[in-house]
Amino acid sequence: MGVDKITGKAQNITAKISAHYVDNARNLPWRVPPELSAAGRLPEPYHVWLSEVMLQQTTVAAVIAYFQKFTKRWPTVADLAKADEADVLAAWAGLGYYARARNLHKCARYVCNNLSGIFPSEEKELLKLPGIGAYTAAAIAAIAFGQRAVVVDANIERLVARLFAIDTPLPKGKADIRIAMDALTPDARTPRDSAGDFAQACMDIGASICSAKAPKCEICPVQAHCAAYAKGDQERYPVKPPKKAKPLRKGRFFWIEQDEKLLLVTRPAKGMLGSMRALPDDGWAAGKDGHGQPPLDGNWQLHENVVQHSFTHFSLEVDLAVYQTEKIVINKGDNRKAEPGPQLDDAIWWPVNGIEDAGLPTLFAKAVDWAVKRKLKE
Ligand code: ADE
Repeated sequence: MGVDKITGKAQNITAKISAHYVDNARNLPWRVPPELSAAGRLPEPYHVWLSEVMLQQTTVAAVIAYFQKFTKRWPTVADLAKADEADVLAAWAGLGYYARARNLHKCARYVCNNLSGIFPSEEKELLKLPGIGAYTAAAIAAIAFGQRAVVVDANIERLVARLFAIDTPLPKGKADIRIAMDALTPDARTPRDSAGDFAQACMDIGASICSAKAPKCEICPVQAHCAAYAKGDQERYPVKPPKKAKPLRKGRFFWIEQDEKLLLVTRPAKGMLGSMRALPDDGWAAGKDGHGQPPLDGNWQLHENVVQHSFTHFSLEVDLAVYQTEKIVINKGDNRKAEPGPQLDDAIWWPVNGIEDAGLPTLFAKAVDWAVKRKLKE
């Protein structure tokens, strides 16, 4: 459907989606339920910001426990700003896309140091903060401050592309989807009809009814207005560009254990999984395979391809080399001059049976899991 025809059918759709939200809103810990938002109550900006950053590229189901953990440990943005970056990164472990955690912490500090701990309410001011892009700025402005902002995440993109059968492939099609969502978004904050609740209503329909595969059109409140449903080809939308094959890279992790403690390092601040605690590795990166060289002389037992992990732009196959030498001497500090020990300068010994508290990124946690399970079988 042409964008010019969008405005005409928008009002009916908006009213039906908003009405559906009143009885069907998901009960999520960062939300104010529709009966309270109808009375003018807005959620805590800190909660909205935290949840929206966590929800970038991550599902609601995965985020809930992390949101609860963060708000319990750091109840306000000022508490988060005072935390050590290493603690924030460790608490984030498992959520992925760790640049988000570093930016989260930077943003908390910025808000506390420069804005007296108060989040700005305008989209264009929010956009200036670390880790806040166009989507997140619009979501915070609408949900936390009741501003009229056009919110388009992946769920909304799918719902709107189907309603209007927008068939320009992404990413070009995003412009038309945005125009359509703009036409749908309510104008002012009225008791039943805020841009924030409307965006969340669309997200909920996108997540639980208008799913990517096998959408439940029979229970959709806007089925009668859906151009894709009328054509019978809902799953075609949004039209995606052809998929590029991901390159496959190789890396090697090194398992160095003594007295039931495992040697962990802190990764360099710059680069993939920067500043995260991890097993020593062979320098693999987004752009290259690792060199395979171990960080210590001695005997190593090699286990090939124990972990496969998919990053956005490449896949990684990981070998695990297990150190076999009994007495381990790590040369650090002054010793290092006599006998350099690559990568191990600030290594620490971590008890294997408390490894889940080390805050390892999922990729490394998978390798640890493999090794622990293998040991149990021995
Ligand atoms: N995805 C991103 N933001 C969301 C929100 N506020 N509610 C549900 N899903 C979301």
